[in-house]
Amino acid sequence: MSVIENSKLTVVGAGAVGSSVAYAALIRGSARHVALYDIAAEKTEAEVLDLAHGAQFTGSSDIVGGADISVAAGSHVVVITAGAKQKPGQTRIELAGVNAGILKSMMPRLLDVAPDATYVIVTNPCDVLTVLAQEATGLPYERIFASGTVLDTSRLRWKLAQRAGVSIASVHAYIVGEHGDTEFPLWSHATIGTVPILDWEPLDGQPKFSVDELDQIAVDVRDSAYKVIQGKGATNYAIGLSSARIVEAVLNDEHAVMPVSTVLDGFHGVSGVALSVPSVVSRTGAAPIRTTAFSPSELGLFRRSADALRDVAASLH
Ligand SMILES: NC(=O)c1ccc[n+]([C@@H]2O[C@H](COP(=O)([O-])OP(=O)(O)OC[C@H]3O[C@@H](n4cnc5c(N)ncnc54)[C@H](O)[C@@H]3O)[C@@H](O)[C@H]2O)c1
Repeated sequence: MSVIENSKLTVVGAGAVGSSVAYAALIRGSARHVALYDIAAEKTEAEVLDLAHGAQFTGSSDIVGGADISVAAGSHVVVITAGAKQKPGQTRIELAGVNAGILKSMMPRLLDVAPDATYVIVTNPCDVLTVLAQEATGLPYERIFASGTVLDTSRLRWKLAQRAGVSIASVHAYIVGEHGDTEFPLWSHATIGTVPILDWEPLDGQPKFSVDELDQIAVDVRDSAYKVIQGKGATNYAIGLSSARIVEAVLNDEHAVMPVSTVLDGFHGVSGVALSVPSVVSRTGAAPIRTTAFSPSELGLFRRSADALRDVAASLH
């Protein structure tokens, strides 16, 4: 392992999500230097000032930023959150056209100033945009990936932990596939400690999980962003934290297993689309774990996710 010294993170987009990524990264000390870049100059300068005013309480990280893309120069990691967001009731896929245009024009300029960075796409639909951004830059698949279902997996583990009566760290379960409507849990590998999820006896005397209940939990997790957006107009805190966690895995060369979304190349027969699968995240980026076993029904769901996203990406070329 080789930790990146004097590390620099740039967050592109200073909206609800980008400013929360920067806030989480500062509090967690994810990077030594944090930069925020957005075309909205006044808003960005205000966010940077507000974040800097808390520097006394955040350890050794510092924050700069503005509307000049050169603030990203020399970054080790760039997290991209710029673009349109979902309106209440809107799907992530419906954002594809406008956000694809933003990304295609922005990526070459970012690469000019931060040629050695690892790029993490958060802007939605993040899987489709990862394919387009990889094509626009020619970066190796490892070095450009989406935050994918890291957030959805956190939502799933939170729900399972509450019901099972254990800490979130003791829940081993993953959401894979699209970060969106075709995502699904890998129930065949879900355990509490070492106990398969359907065998777990909750500590508070509640009944065991049933297949129907697990199906409902999967639906609730899939739809949870809609509920938050309906209530407050955006999701920002949990994506801020999960993005900061991904950044740490890269900068600290952790080799942490996370369900991020890279362009796949023969993963269970799927190529040319980006989908989340358990991947090793380190200084060199993200590498899908090819030996991750799927049950036959999970394979069917995975291929359905791939087909859906392939069609969207094709429509944007
Ligand atoms: N992947 C995930 O898990 C996840 C979770 C939450 C939100 N999101 C996505 O993140 C994105 C941002 O959401 P938000 O709530 O922060 O939106 P927002 O509207 O609050 O902020 C978007 C920001 O992007 C900036 N921007 C637009 N075009 C730009 C450009 N060309 N260059 C630089 N900056 C530009 C805008 O000025 C604005 O400040 C959306 O696409 C949303 O769907 C993804």
